[in-house]
Amino acid sequence: EKGGWSSFMRKEVSEQPDAVANTIRGRVVDGVVAIPELEAFGDESLRDVRRITVVACGTAAYAGMVAKYAIEQWTRIPVEVELSHEFRYRDPVIDEHTLVVSISQSGETMDTLMAVKYAREQGARTISVCNTQGATIPRESDAVVYTHAGPEVAVASTKAFVAQITALYLFGLHVARVRGTLSDAELAEHVDELLAIPGKLSTVLEESDRVGELAHWMSDTRSVLFLGRHVGFPIAMEGALKLKELAYIHAEGFAAGELKHGPIALIEPGQPVFVVVPSPRGSASLHPKVVSNIQEIRARGARVIAIAEAGDAAVLPFADEVIRIPLAAPLFEPLLAVVPLQIFAMELSQAKGLDVDQPRNLAKSVTVE
Ligand code: F6R
Repeated sequence: EKGGWSSFMRKEVSEQPDAVANTIRGRVVDGVVAIPELEAFGDESLRDVRRITVVACGTAAYAGMVAKYAIEQWTRIPVEVELSHEFRYRDPVIDEHTLVVSISQSGETMDTLMAVKYAREQGARTISVCNTQGATIPRESDAVVYTHAGPEVAVASTKAFVAQITALYLFGLHVARVRGTLSDAELAEHVDELLAIPGKLSTVLEESDRVGELAHWMSDTRSVLFLGRHVGFPIAMEGALKLKELAYIHAEGFAAGELKHGPIALIEPGQPVFVVVPSPRGSASLHPKVVSNIQEIRARGARVIAIAEAGDAAVLPFADEVIRIPLAAPLFEPLLAVVPLQIFAMELSQAKGLDVDQPRNLAKSVTVE
């Protein structure tokens, strides 16, 4: 039940620190990641994997896109992320060395179920990342890593998304340990980052009032763009999806590097653009590139709302608004940066008087293809 919250979505957004903590619980023992559910799967078969194909739809697919960056970096296994419905009908190249990882909150999404069944028929091994105990997709998979976000009632996925990224990161660290692609010190560093996320999420939630004000002030906006790079790119697309489904506002998420290849033509005076800014402490080249992207759109009149790390002063001269997130290692920033975007879409929906839990034309579980 809503337990005093004005909507299920508001309640579920606020439950994100617990969703992450509960998904980690029992999978980090004495600082070492070991997912009990993968034991049955066997270390030998994890060493045998040559390629990982992630299949999912919507928000779950964006969780997969975020995790691709981490899993490839940590395990050196090539990862591709496919929309389930595109994967199923294009004669994909898969064999017994392919690991197909499906992501589904409900575990009942027909497109994803069909992709998993197809992958198994082709001889691939399958792991399900799922939030619903005993659902169809985990039953049809060789192994399941449950997210423990708790029941998600609002149609728009929020806490399941951060739990999916968490489960996939745990999976990546488990595989990296088994395959020996990270040192013990590196593994420990990433585990520490993950364990710190629930506390940092609480900080983001406590400081989200400004996002609400912004949304109310922007309630007659007709189009919003979102930009990001690296792990910030899927977060930009997720921010756009939330705004489309909850506030019925046209929104697009772009890779910031793609701007000059077309989308910058959309920028006209007053166009609101959210920019997910990578940490200045991360990969040397990313941060200044995004700052210069901000300058380019600002010069054309965009109204820039930057989501940037606390203390990042480089964005200040060019952004109209800066929403701060706590410091985190670059791969872990998406778990924090997505929250202001969820809240923005939710507040804008409420400012327009819409039903935030039950947006028009959508169902929580899509059981038809
Ligand atoms: C967006 C949203 C959808 C789902 C998608 C997959 O907020 O909720 O995009 O993420 O329909 O659903 P599951 O995860 O149940 O397979």
